[in-house]
Parts: sequence; C-alpha cells; structure tokens
Amino acid sequence: MANILCIGAGYVGGPTMAVIAQKCPQHRVVVVDINEARIAAWQSDHLPIYEPGLDDMVRATRNKNLFFSTEVDRHIAEADIIFVSVNTPTKTFGQGAGKAADLQYWEKTARQILQNSTTPKIVVEKSTLPVRTAEAMEHILNSNGEGLHFDVVSNPEFLAEGTAVRNMENPDRVLIGARETPSGQKALQAIVDIYSQWVPRERIITTNLWSSELSKLVANAFLAQRISSINAISALCEKTGANVNEVAHAIGMDSRIGPHFLNASVGFGGSCFRKDILNLVYLCEYCGLSEIAGYWEQVVKMNEHQEARFVSNMLSAMFNTVAGKRIALLGVAFKANTSDTRESPALAVCRALLEERAEIVITDSHALDNARADLGADARRVTFEPDPYAAAAGAYAIAILTEWSYLAELDYQAIYQSMVRPAFVFDGRNILDHQSLFKMGFNVYAIGKPPLVHFQ
Ligand code: UDX
Ligand code: UDX
Repeated sequence: MANILCIGAGYVGGPTMAVIAQKCPQHRVVVVDINEARIAAWQSDHLPIYEPGLDDMVRATRNKNLFFSTEVDRHIAEADIIFVSVNTPTKTFGQGAGKAADLQYWEKTARQILQNSTTPKIVVEKSTLPVRTAEAMEHILNSNGEGLHFDVVSNPEFLAEGTAVRNMENPDRVLIGARETPSGQKALQAIVDIYSQWVPRERIITTNLWSSELSKLVANAFLAQRISSINAISALCEKTGANVNEVAHAIGMDSRIGPHFLNASVGFGGSCFRKDILNLVYLCEYCGLSEIAGYWEQVVKMNEHQEARFVSNMLSAMFNTVAGKRIALLGVAFKANTSDTRESPALAVCRALLEERAEIVITDSHALDNARADLGADARRVTFEPDPYAAAAGAYAIAILTEWSYLAELDYQAIYQSMVRPAFVFDGRNILDHQSLFKMGFNVYAIGKPPLVHFQ
C-alpha cells in the first residue's frame, strides 16, 4: 500500500484522484487544498465542480480510500507519493508578465513539502509547467541538510473537462517523465505501477523529464492550433459561399489530417490553451527563438480575432447598434458539460457587447455562478437567468456560445414568438438547424457559412 497525496483539489486534482482511488483500492489517496470551502464541498453532496460521472465515483470511494482535507502539513508528512496540481496561472507582473507561468504556488508547495518531510518522497508534477521546472524543484527539495532524497517525476494531465472521468479511465496515453538515474527510474516505475492497474502498458509512455514537460505544452498548442486554423478558414467561408462544416468534413476524411478538433467556433476557451501557448511562446523567446515564438503566438491572436469578429458580425447584422437592446447569450461555460467559465469566449463576447451598451441576459444550466464570479464588477450589468426561454423572451437576438446539447433541443418556434422582430440568431457553435430557423423567420448567422437573412 502507498500513501498517495494530491495537493490542489481543483478540476485536475479532484477527478484524477477519484479515478486513482477507484482503480487502486489498495492505496490510500488524500486530496488537500488550502481552500476550506472547496474541501468542504468535496466532502458534501454538492461537489465543487460539475463533471459527468464524478459524483458516483466520489461517492463510491470517499472515506474508504479517498479523503479530502485542509491539513496539508500532516498529510505531506505521511505521504509516499505527492502529486502537485496547484494552479500555475499566467504571470501578471514583472518579467514575462502576460506570458510566463506564475510559479509562486509551485515553489511555495515545494518548500512546504520539504519542511514537513522526514522520509524520502516522489513528487509528481501534474500541473502544466514550463520546461525544466523539475530541475528547480529538485534543487529546492534536495537542499535539505538531512540527506533526505526526493525524486521529481513529470506526469502531465491530458484530461479534458466534461470528459475528465472518461479520459482518466480510458486514456489515449499516459505520459511519465523522469531522470535517467537509478533513483529516477525507480520513481518512474512507482508511477507506472499505479497507472498499469487499469491502463494497458503500451499506452503508458515513459520519457526523460524535459520531453514530458514539453509534450504537455505542445499537445495543447497543436490542439488549439487546429481550432485557430479552422476558425481562420471560417472567415474565408463566410466571404466565399463555402460552408466550413463541409470543408472540415472533406479535409478530416484525409486520414493524415483526421476528423477531430475541426469544429469552427466563436473561439476556444478553458484554463489551459491560452495559458499553455503563451507559456510556450515565452519559452521560445527565452531561448532566443523569436520566429518560433511568433508562429505560436498567432494561434492565440487568431482566437482573439475570432471572438472580436463574432461581435462585429452581430453589430453589423443588427444595423450597427445594439445599445439598449436585450441580447440573450445561450451558454456561458467554455465548453459543454462543465460548469467552468475560465477564459470562456462567451465572457469575451459578453464584455464586448456591454461596451456597446447592450442589455445582456446569460443563461446556462451549470455555469451561472462561475460566470457571475468571473465577470466581477460587470456582473451587476448582466441578468443571470437559468431558464433559456425566459432569457430569450423580449430579446432582439440570441447567441449560442456553448455547444451544450440541450441548447440544440430547445423549442425555437416558441423562442421566436417571444422575441422582438426582426429576430436574430447567432450560432457561435454551429449546433442548430439553420435552415429550419430561417424558415421560422429568424435571420441566421452561423460560423463559416453565408448568413440566411430575410431582407436584402
Ligand atoms: C490548474 C491549472 O489550470 C492547470 O493548467 C494545471 O495543469 C493544474 O492546475 P485546475 O485543477 O483546473 O488546474 O486548477 P484549479 O481548479 O484552480 O485548482 C487548483 C487548486 O490548488 C485550487 O483549489 C487551489 O486552492 C489549490 N492550491 C493553490 C493549493 O491548495 N495550494 C496553493 O498553494 C495554491
Ligand atoms: C484541453 C485539452 O484537450 C486537454 O488534453 C488538456 O489536459 C487541458 O486542455 P479542455 O480545455 O478541458 O482540455 O477542453 P477541450 O475539449 O480541449 O476544449 C477547449 C476549447 O476548445 C473549448 O472552448 C471548446 O469548445 C473548443 N473547441 C474544441 C472548439 O472550438 N472546436 C473544437 O473542434 C474543439
């Protein structure tokens, strides 16, 4: 039996540890966090995050071999293996502000591990970190005068919100990087042993530390790049009469390209893509590779352009003014099946429309509380309405901003009847049946398709 500890009970730490606890009943898994409210929520019937399948998994393991606690020091002392999944936001100050990762929580955590350890431990990087962070961690951890040895292992998470439990249970691959020393390889084997309880051995990849750290950034950069690429093409489709869905289907059938991650959208969001690409950009700049940095930075710029373009399209369609007009934003989560609104394109659209003095109503089945918190002072100027029909009533326009399947299944005839005419729908996720909406009387604007309008 091993005592496994995870520091950071967020979107990554919570689901990851719940799955490890379920798949490895012989191990004791503890998740700690400095945030008392968050830990209390993990111990309650209302988990702090919404993730399909998570409630059942936590219920089955909690207080058996999965525990949540705020006693960080005590649990560090007891642990054999410590996963660290504290947040690594983009730095907002000093050198690298706006791009580099803010590593203060990571370093603080490393020092806390050191202070509370009397036995050797394996420290696993779960958080996304700049390449060679493990080296800094080793220097801090092994600076103790007592001869205690710590091994730092990189095991980046690839789980996507909304499918986190499924991704952990059945991963495409698990990546584990460690030092090529005997002690590093022993630590690596200990982490391999955990995952091999349920993951086929051929899907567990082992590399050196730096390849593992870098692969995480590169995976997210490639995924985001695909979205920015298809979004760039969506602008061209709108001008030429091509349909971006048809183009995506046609190119995706080429097995060298593949069909995934080609859905044109109002933009990508989430806590990782923007942060990780900017991290990669900073790393390239730091290494003197300015052309490479510029290449990847364009992926983020294209995403900002797509969000801005969506709002410009709304404005020009609605006779160049939305001041005082009620506009319902349908969906505010950054993607379907999550309550998370971090970097959500819906919030960017909301803020831009507030600048234009529109009257904004936001509806979402799970993300309203997070949206309210993320909007800060702007939240006072927004109405939060859980019922999509009430949100749309009296609106001049509705905009689909999250690909929630329930939004595609609403009674749009009833919604049309309740709206101001001419009624507009802007489908930022291409999930609606545009022809039938047009027949109902809507003026329809989708991503990457010529608009369907009733007037010339
Ligand atoms: C975050 C990042 O978004 C991701 O890129 C990274 O790989 C891992 O960390 P996530 O789980 O989504 O992932 O973050 P978040 O939900 O903010 O959870 C981090 C938790 O760490 C918070 O609950 C926070 O209270 C906790 N924390 C932070 C500590 O317990 N101690 C600290 O010193 C700092
Ligand atoms: C991502 C990575 O997929 C995951 O491997 C990593 O561990 C964390 O970052 P996540 O941000 O949770 O996961 O969700 P993801 O499914 O990647 O979607 C990110 C954003 O891209 C969402 O806003 C989504 O709506 C958007 N998206 C995705 C598109 O606009 N089009 C697509 O084709 C796919």
